[in-house]
Amino acid sequence: MASTDSKEHEKQLEGWFYPSEEIKSEAYVSSMDRYKELYQKSIDDPAGFWGDIANEFYWKVPPSKEKFMQFNFDTREGKVFIKWMEGAVTNISYNLLDRNVEKGLGDNVAFYWEGNFPGDSKQITYSELLSEVCKFSNVLKDKGIKKGDRVAIYMPMINELVVAMLACARIGAVHSIVFGGFSAESLAERILDSTCKVLVTADGSYRGAKLIDLKEISDEAIGKCKDQGFTVETCIVVQHVGGGSGNGTVSPRTSPVAKKPCPPIQTNFNSAVDCWWHELMSCASDKCEPCWTDAEDPLFMLYTSGSTGKPKGVLHTVGGYMLFTAVTFKYVFDYHPGEVYWCTADIGWITGHSYITYGPLANGATSVLFEGTPFYPDSGRFWGVVDKYHVSKFYTAPTAIRALMKFGKAVVQKYNRKSLKVLGTVGEPINPEAWLWYYRTVGDERCVIVDTYWQTETGGHVITSLPGATPMRPGAASFPFFGVVPAIVDEHGKELEGACEGFLVMKQPWPGMARTIYGNHERFERVYFSKFNGYYTTGDGCKRDSNGYYWITGRTDDCMNVSGHLLSTAQIESALVEHDAVTEAAVVSCPHKEKGEGIYCFTTLMEGVEFNEQLIKELKQKVRSKIGPFATPDVIQNSPGLPKTRSGKIMRRVLRQVAKNDKKIGDVTTMADSSVVDNLFHNRPHVD
Ligand code: WT7
Repeated sequence: MASTDSKEHEKQLEGWFYPSEEIKSEAYVSSMDRYKELYQKSIDDPAGFWGDIANEFYWKVPPSKEKFMQFNFDTREGKVFIKWMEGAVTNISYNLLDRNVEKGLGDNVAFYWEGNFPGDSKQITYSELLSEVCKFSNVLKDKGIKKGDRVAIYMPMINELVVAMLACARIGAVHSIVFGGFSAESLAERILDSTCKVLVTADGSYRGAKLIDLKEISDEAIGKCKDQGFTVETCIVVQHVGGGSGNGTVSPRTSPVAKKPCPPIQTNFNSAVDCWWHELMSCASDKCEPCWTDAEDPLFMLYTSGSTGKPKGVLHTVGGYMLFTAVTFKYVFDYHPGEVYWCTADIGWITGHSYITYGPLANGATSVLFEGTPFYPDSGRFWGVVDKYHVSKFYTAPTAIRALMKFGKAVVQKYNRKSLKVLGTVGEPINPEAWLWYYRTVGDERCVIVDTYWQTETGGHVITSLPGATPMRPGAASFPFFGVVPAIVDEHGKELEGACEGFLVMKQPWPGMARTIYGNHERFERVYFSKFNGYYTTGDGCKRDSNGYYWITGRTDDCMNVSGHLLSTAQIESALVEHDAVTEAAVVSCPHKEKGEGIYCFTTLMEGVEFNEQLIKELKQKVRSKIGPFATPDVIQNSPGLPKTRSGKIMRRVLRQVAKNDKKIGDVTTMADSSVVDNLFHNRPHVD
C-alpha cells in the first residue's frame, strides 16, 4: 500500500493538472486555443492589442498608433532604447484613483489593512485613498519636491506607504522604495545613488514579536549620507507604533494577543530635518491637480542586486508599466470585480510595487495589505486572514510555502479557505513537492496554481500560466504572457529550437520592461544586452519541453536567490573582507530546505587569527549591518586555501560542490593546487 502511495506521489510530481470547469467557466481566457489567439494578436499587432487596453485608461493626449512600440536591442546598431507610446500624456495616480472614483467605485475598499497583531485592522476606500494621496502630494510639493525629483521611502506595510508612492506619481516625482529589511548602510547607499532630498519613514514596525526601529535606522542612514557630503533635507515620519516624543495624539498599538500595549519606543526627533506625517497632513489640502506626464517619463526606480555587488537602480516609466501591470493582474489572477485579492509580498520589492499597488488599483480591485508574518501569532495566520476577508486570489512565494509545510496540514485545515480560487507563486522556481502541497493542502485540489516568472526588470509577469487556460505542470512557469517573445540560446547566442535547454532571452520589448539603470545607461546595455547581440538577457537558465512549456532552472550569473530575493555573491564577499580578521572571502549558494538557496561563505583569515564561534558571530553581524538581516550567511567555513586557477581566479564551481558536499567536482586540470579541495571537504562544518 505504502509503495503504491509513493508511486502515485511520484507520478503526481511529474503529472498534469487541469483547471476545474468552475474556474474555466468564469475565466477571461478559458482555453489554450483562446490564449494562442490572443497571444498571436499581441505579437502581430502590438499597437492594436495594447491600443485596446490603453483605451480603458484616461489620456490627456492619447497614444499615437505610429509611436506605440519603438526599440533597439542590438548594441551594434547604436544605443539600446525602449519606448512605448512616447508623446502620449497621462497620470498614473489619476488612472488608479480619480478614474475609479468617477466610475462609481469611490466607496469600494481599496485595501483591508491587517496589522501585525490580530485584531489590529482598518480599511481605506478609493475616495479616501484619493484624498490622502492628494494631501500628501501637497505636502511633498511644500517640501520642494518637483517633477523628476527622487523621493526615498523606507516604510513598513501600512496604508501610508501606498499613499506616499502614489503621491510621488501624482506630482511626477520618482519614488525609490527601500525594503524595510535593509540596513542603514544599504539605505544610505541607495539615497546617495539617487540623491533623494526627502526620506519618508515610520517610527517603527512590528514583525511578529520583534520591533524594528525604522526611524533609528533612517537617522543612521541620514548621518552616513552627511558623511559623504549629501544632505537629506526632510525626513517625514509616520507615527505608526505610537509613543515616542511626538505629540502623543496617536495611542500606542495594543496587542490583543498579549492583551497589553506594545512598549512605546522613544523616537529621536531632530526638528531641523524631521516632521511628523500626521502634523503635515492635518493642514494639507485634499485637492491636487495631477502633473500630466509623458508615457515615457520615469515613474519609479527600484534597486536590485547586480553581479558586481553595486545595486542597480532599475528604472520604470509611466505608460507602459501602467498597461502591463494592469493587464497581467487582470488575466493572471483572473481578477473579477468584487473579489478580494491578497499578495503577501512586501511593497519594498517589485512584487509589491506591481501586484499590491499598481496592478490591483488600476483594476479597481480590493486587496489585503498585511503588515505581519506568516508565523505570528502562529503558523495558521495566512489562512485566518484568508477566511476573515474571503480572499479568492492569493499570491505568495515558494519560500513561505516551504516554511509553512513543516507545520503540517492540521493548522491549514483548521480554516475553511472555501473562498480561494487562484493561488499564485513567485520569486524562484517552485519545487514540485511544495507545488503539490500548495495545490492539495492549501487549495484542496480545487484551486488553480499560477507560477509567475518575472524580474524587477520585467516590471510584470513574462512567463506564466493562466488560470482557466493552462494545464498545470508542477514547477513549470509554462508560457509567455501576451506581447512577450522568449527564446532559448546556447552559449554562442544561437537560438535553439523545440525541446532544449540554455539561456533565457527576450527578442522584443513588452510595455512593462525597464528602460534603463538610473544614472548609468551604459551599465544597462552591458548587463542586459551585451552577452547576446540583439536580445535582452534575463540571467536565468531555462528548459523548454516538447509541449512548449518553459521551466526556469535558476540564475546563470553570480547572483543567488535566497527566499526569492536576489543577492550578489560579490556584495556579501566585500562585506566579509571588511572584517579585520579576513583576507579573502568567496561566497556561493547551497541548497536550503526553506530558503531555496542558502548562503555558504568560505573565508581565509589573517595569520594567527583563531577561527571560533565568536568570529562566526561577528562575520554574520558584519553582513547583516552592511546589507540587512535577510542576507545573513547560513554557513561560514574556515578556508586557509581557496581553489584557484593558475591565473588566480577563484573556482566557484568547485566551491559549490564543497557547499553541497558533492565530491563530483569534474575537471580540475586548471587548478593551481588541488590539495586545497581535499582540505575543504575535510573541514566542512556540520550543516543540517
Ligand atoms: C529572479 C528575479 C519577480 C518578483 C520577485 C523576484 C527568479 C522569479 C520565478 C519563477 C522561477 C523565478 C528568477 C528571476 N524568479 N520568479 N516563478 N520561477 N524563477 O524579483 O529580485 O528581480 O528576481 O527571480 O531567477 O531572474 P527579482
